Amino acid sequence: MPIATIPPLRLFHPEDATTVARLNDMASGGVLFNIWTKATGEDGDPWEQGRLQQIDQVNSGWVVIVLDQGNGVEAVLMGQPHTKEPVSTEGVDPIWVPLMELENLVPGSWCINVIATLPEYRGKGHAAMLVKQAEALARDGRHASLALVVADENVGAIRLYHNCGFSQVARRPMVKGDWDGPGGDWILMLKPLQDN
Ligand SMILES: CC(C)(COP(=O)(O)OP(=O)(O)OC[C@H]1O[C@@H](n2cnc3c(N)ncnc32)[C@H](O)[C@@H]1OP(=O)(O)O)[C@@H](O)C(=O)NCCC(=O)NCCS
Repeated sequence: MPIATIPPLRLFHPEDATTVARLNDMASGGVLFNIWTKATGEDGDPWEQGRLQQIDQVNSGWVVIVLDQGNGVEAVLMGQPHTKEPVSTEGVDPIWVPLMELENLVPGSWCINVIATLPEYRGKGHAAMLVKQAEALARDGRHASLALVVADENVGAIRLYHNCGFSQVARRPMVKGDWDGPGGDWILMLKPLQDN
């Protein structure tokens, strides 16, 4: 189904990928930078790896919508419908396993993978607008709920999601290993879309 956006929202362009990689890493609490660094090795460029990953994700079907008022990307929404079947965690980097286990609890949801706003544009309602856009996509696709996973220490984001109608439904301890970012648990938050 074609995706309709209304300015200041628009679909991702490949030229957005560097800023979107930065935003995606912020939303992950630095997990992604750790993974990109491991993938590129000592002499590689993790941010270039991240840039290319954003383009690959769009090509593989992720929905990526940016907020741009004419001066480039200020905020981003990344998401996709979760499959009806649970996704296997076999062979996956252990860092991702608790997040995948949580998403597997809500098959058929529309999952918000990333919402992030550049620091200089925060507190202006950008993230709230992107949550509304995700909800519109979930309703268009007749999904029963909207879901996301957030770190327990990310109190600002949790407050935003509560204000947008989400509740906390499950949690899993983070797997830290060589990434030691903020937080102890990942929290699954859900917004049922009863009338869908
Ligand atoms: C969490 C995050 C996405 C919020 O983005 P944002 O664009 O600042 O969010 P909003 O502006 O919609 O809402 C934030 C606050 O601004 C307030 N606000 C909204 N519109 C406003 C306006 N026009 N004027 C003043 N304040 C406003 C909201 O009420 C909210 O207040 P609160 O802090 O009391 O809850 C942002 O802090 C961020 O990118 N963090 C790093 C990435 C991250 O952690 N992402 C979430 C991972 S799950």
